[in-house]
Amino acid sequence: MKKLIVANFKMNEQPNEVKQYFIKFVSQFTGVRADVVICPTFVNIPFARFLTDGSVVKIGAQNVSDEEQGAFTGEVSAKMLKAYGVEYVLIGHSDRRIKFKESDKLINKKIKTALKNGLKCIVCVGESLADRNTEQTYEVIRKQLEEDLRGLYENELESVIIAYEPIWAIGTGNNASVKDVENAAKVIRKVILENFSEKASRDIQVLYGGSINEKNYSPLLNSAGIDGGLIGGLSLNVNAFLNIVNSVK
Ligand code: PGA
Repeated sequence: MKKLIVANFKMNEQPNEVKQYFIKFVSQFTGVRADVVICPTFVNIPFARFLTDGSVVKIGAQNVSDEEQGAFTGEVSAKMLKAYGVEYVLIGHSDRRIKFKESDKLINKKIKTALKNGLKCIVCVGESLADRNTEQTYEVIRKQLEEDLRGLYENELESVIIAYEPIWAIGTGNNASVKDVENAAKVIRKVILENFSEKASRDIQVLYGGSINEKNYSPLLNSAGIDGGLIGGLSLNVNAFLNIVNSVK
């Protein structure tokens, strides 16, 4: 199975940069080694969709409302994203958990709303440095997964991807080791097995995110136990991102 590599632009790209980025990316992405999802900011999604039309590059959103429709000023619904050709959405990113105080309860509702509207959810989980230092990594991941995925039907898990993103590794230059990620992926599959089924636990894709760069990506993304990556900072550099997605094995 091909690796899945997701780019998270966060709140960085300007519209004029989006144009150059996507023209170059679409013309040079081979699609042989990896499936790619790029998540621009909301306002750049229609343009990004236009520029990737007819290519294998998929567009994701960085966030979605837990509500379907109505008086929710500033929110964007799953149905709107779907109408713009968005196929994936990041939910539970640590930026949102920490800076926007998103709870597991809210994340659970967002996942259910997104799935109901036909979006695939990339659900981010991961521990803080304090959790890691007190050896609570696995309990934290377990609790997040159990609360975030509570009440989902087993067949809905086919549209869920888990990204293990230790908070201490995001944007810090400190990546987790291959062993750290493989162990976290095992725990994630165990939680899915206990709460859903053996099939779901086997089939779910588990990605790693946190300071992936051109030097460290190879062992991380080429591990058999890791199904792909979620890349923030480096994905803004089109040449570096192309190099990774075209050469991962
Ligand atoms: P980073 O971000 O690659 O810049 O560490 C990863 C993420 O936030 O998903």
